[in-house]
Amino acid sequence: LQINENEIGQEAEIKKIEEAGEILRSGGLVAFPTETVYGLGGDALHKEGAKKIYKAKGRPSDNPLIIHIIRLEDLSRIVTGVTPIIEKLLDRFWPGPLTIILKKTEEVPYETSGGLDTVAIRMPDHKIARAIIDSGGGFIAAPSANTSGKPSPTSAAHVVDDLSGRIDMVVDGGEVEIGVESTILDLTVEPPMILRPGAITKEMLEEILPKVVDDPGFQKENERQSPKAPGMKYRHYAPKATLYIVSGKSDEAVDKINQLAAADTKRGLKVGIIGTKENMEQYSEGVIKCIGSRKSGIDIARHLYKVLREFDTEEVDVIYSESFEESGIGKAIMNRLLKAASHQIINS
Ligand code: TXA
Ligand code: MG
Repeated sequence: LQINENEIGQEAEIKKIEEAGEILRSGGLVAFPTETVYGLGGDALHKEGAKKIYKAKGRPSDNPLIIHIIRLEDLSRIVTGVTPIIEKLLDRFWPGPLTIILKKTEEVPYETSGGLDTVAIRMPDHKIARAIIDSGGGFIAAPSANTSGKPSPTSAAHVVDDLSGRIDMVVDGGEVEIGVESTILDLTVEPPMILRPGAITKEMLEEILPKVVDDPGFQKENERQSPKAPGMKYRHYAPKATLYIVSGKSDEAVDKINQLAAADTKRGLKVGIIGTKENMEQYSEGVIKCIGSRKSGIDIARHLYKVLREFDTEEVDVIYSESFEESGIGKAIMNRLLKAASHQIINS
């Protein structure tokens, strides 16, 4: 079942939202768009909902889910420890791409929190998501709606590719706006710690909180410390082809990629290239895909998972990607790209 963006606010749409709500309230699964990526929703306060989600995704059950809400006053039912400064933080960033972690209440089943005493909460800023959460009872557990091990879905087609036949409904809201998952901030530690970088950056959080630190565990593959967010430790996604990130100045990286592509092609390999709009004309060898403009991290984030998914159907042997500045949302982009490349970097 699908819903179209231009149906929003119309009778057909209202009917589908109601239907989605009914499915959720009776323990079923509905995939829906959010501003970050598509989520796979189930009832967060009933353990059967969470169990079904793990099964549909093929996800390990110790990897906790995020509870999605739409009203601030609903927070006290599921978490404790909301201080005035946390209220200020939420006032500034919710609804939006920020997930917070706090101590859970007894209302949250351990199935939802992956066995932990803490739980992740997010209030999305997307009209369809909000309507579905509301209609589904107000507390919807939703991980990204991909099969475990694939990039998060940024369109309904990606969800259908991964989960068709395993869930009850897919609501189509077109392509998402942000394209990388929400920033996860652990508020149970002092100073608060970013467990997963996203569109809300450390600098933005520090406009409200005096100090925020990055989880050292997500920063480098070779760090001995394992990441604090259980989901960040799983080998997330690896393209079928070997992916290398070519670092260095844009011009030099382009030259290096062209040299590598020429050599590989000569050896009989099929090469893929992830380039930016500014450099497109300089590539000639292999399957060349544009990820967006260097001038806009937002643009690159939005296309990242789509491009990675496309390469899986191109049957290339090796992919070379330009690298991106780690400022703003660039930190999230490089975090995801480095994981996909198993941290293989070639210096230009
Ligand atoms: O943008 C998003 O956050 C999307 C949309 C659908 O809202 N959701 C999403 O969910 O990315 P998921 O399940 O794919 O990622 C949730 C991450 C996992 O890495 C998980 O381990 C971590 O959050 N997490 C959840 N609860 C946690 C907790 N109590 N402590 C530490 N990490 C937690
Ligand atoms: Mg995920």
